[in-house]
Amino acid sequence: MSDDALGFDTVRWMGGAADGWLRLIDQTRLPVDFLEIDCRDAPGVWEAIKMLRVRGAPAIGVAAAYGAVIGARSRGLSEAGAVREALHEAADYLAGSRPTAVNLFWALDRMRAVAQTDASNGLALLEALLAEARAIEALDRATCRAIGRHGAPLIEPGDGVLTHCNAGGLATADYGTALAVIFAAHERGTPLRVFADETRPLLQGARLTAWELARRKIPVTLICDNMAAQVMREGKVQRVVVGADRIAANGDTANKIGTYGVALLAHAHQIPFYVAAPASTFDLSIADGSLIPIEERDPREITHGFGRQTAPDSVQVYNPAFDVTPARLIAGIITERGLISPVDRETIARQLSG
Ligand code: MRU
Repeated sequence: MSDDALGFDTVRWMGGAADGWLRLIDQTRLPVDFLEIDCRDAPGVWEAIKMLRVRGAPAIGVAAAYGAVIGARSRGLSEAGAVREALHEAADYLAGSRPTAVNLFWALDRMRAVAQTDASNGLALLEALLAEARAIEALDRATCRAIGRHGAPLIEPGDGVLTHCNAGGLATADYGTALAVIFAAHERGTPLRVFADETRPLLQGARLTAWELARRKIPVTLICDNMAAQVMREGKVQRVVVGADRIAANGDTANKIGTYGVALLAHAHQIPFYVAAPASTFDLSIADGSLIPIEERDPREITHGFGRQTAPDSVQVYNPAFDVTPARLIAGIITERGLISPVDRETIARQLSG
């Protein structure tokens, strides 16, 4: 199913359970080339997640679920036991691709639970696994629309809305989380302008968010990350909306590196800072953000970004891919169930259990 306004599927299963494969947009090639790639084995899916060909917490979860279906075929289909064993092996393997987005582990746990159910033979179990992966994708599509519906009223006519990284249709099965709020406000006729942080070092804001907004004809102004303070001081930003990779039980939120700085700037300028994320992005087993694992990536993303050396040979580099914004800086978290505000342990527990 394609999104009408955008006409693309971030993640798509092709064919049946026994012979199908995963088709992805290779996001590393955007915005210049729109290319799809086919993943026909678990290493192909692992590589696509690791290299950010598919990225964004919910999209990683959906891709991993389909990757687990592919991996579950590796020991043949005659015995349910062989499919079960191969599924667990593939899930362990795919779980090692990226550490921060909890949606990856959430989706793989759902696949493991289905693998434990009774099945008459291997093919029947594989079909149940594919049905679960499809259900994870369908849930994400519905969830993103609901996030848009709940978030749109937070945008006032004429707002400048700043966002960081890409939490759009490319980061989910469809429609996005932070961008869903913007898309839905725009669809309601609320005039707005988006300021998209470029998002160093991999430029998801410039390459992906600006691309998605332009396709939907939503006014967007691209800024370098270090311009946000000045743009806020000039009074151009009335709201910040970002996505999330993992939210601890107390509301501390991991998102793309630079998000914490944006939250501090928003606080200093008394601009409400919102997080938009599905319930599957909460990790209630983690008391606070200090326990969220932060991915460190290849130094060459900083020293040799996009094919050109921009730092001296053998300089020391630190390249954390995410940071944690403390709950006290977050005005509200927009989920498919509504707005969580204030952002604290009690309100989160109440909303997620209700
Ligand atoms: O490294 P990335 O591109 O996967 O990081 C993505 C983000 O930080 C997104 O904001 C987050 O996953 C939410 S996507 C709806």
